[in-house]
Amino acid sequence: MIFFNRRQKKAAPALPVLHTERLVLRAFDPNDAASLYAFAQSETVAHMAGFTPHKSLEDSRKMVQDFMTSGAVWAVVEKRSGRMIGFASLHTDHTRYTGHARKLAYTLGEEYWGQGFATETCRELVRHAFEELDCRVLAVSHFPFNHKSKRVIKKLGFAYEGVQRYAHDLPDGSVADLVCYSLLRSEYEARKQGK
Ligand SMILES: CC(C)(COP(=O)(O)OP(=O)(O)OC[C@H]1O[C@@H](n2cnc3c(N)ncnc32)[C@H](O)[C@@H]1OP(=O)(O)O)[C@@H](O)C(=O)NCCC(=O)NCCS
Repeated sequence: MIFFNRRQKKAAPALPVLHTERLVLRAFDPNDAASLYAFAQSETVAHMAGFTPHKSLEDSRKMVQDFMTSGAVWAVVEKRSGRMIGFASLHTDHTRYTGHARKLAYTLGEEYWGQGFATETCRELVRHAFEELDCRVLAVSHFPFNHKSKRVIKKLGFAYEGVQRYAHDLPDGSVADLVCYSLLRSEYEARKQGK
């Protein structure tokens, strides 16, 4: 969730291309709309991520445009197949009163779940946030019913903060709570040094 940042007004800086063992994280381009539509029309994916399932390719085209202007959303591409399998983001975290806070979010097409791709994507974005961006605290959250996402967050070593109640509009008109976590740069560095 939080894949859009409507407060962002300045032209977005170019996104760096990031590499992991099995994935490339790169900027979106308009040709990604069809691949996005292939999984963004899924009720399950959209429900867990908190957006309305896409009803047409046009919905996906608009989302790709939003991603391209955000300057904070990467397309996740599987190296082996060259397919765009999901997206992940590092938006400014406007819930904190510091310019050094980012918020991590991620979504993968359903056929790619359960293979460690989300964890691999997020590990690289955590590294990028702390080592290449001026990020001192990274936040992440999941809906209370999203156990897979909770597992990814735990594996990444984020600390539990609490539940933000009545926090996120859902497409069915209800409002979900968000279970919130964060990771400090100092914690990331200590873990890297094996402390
Ligand atoms: C959440 C999501 C990104 C996870 O992607 P993924 O590639 O399957 O994640 P990983 O394979 O890296 O890790 C998933 C972990 O969840 C565990 N898991 C799977 N189903 C689970 C369940 N029902 N309850 C608890 N844990 C579960 C897996 O076993 C795995 O942990 P393990 O490596 O210790 O076995 C993916 O399900 C998704 O895109 N969902 C829709 C969008 C979404 O929910 N985005 C997150 C918004 S906060």
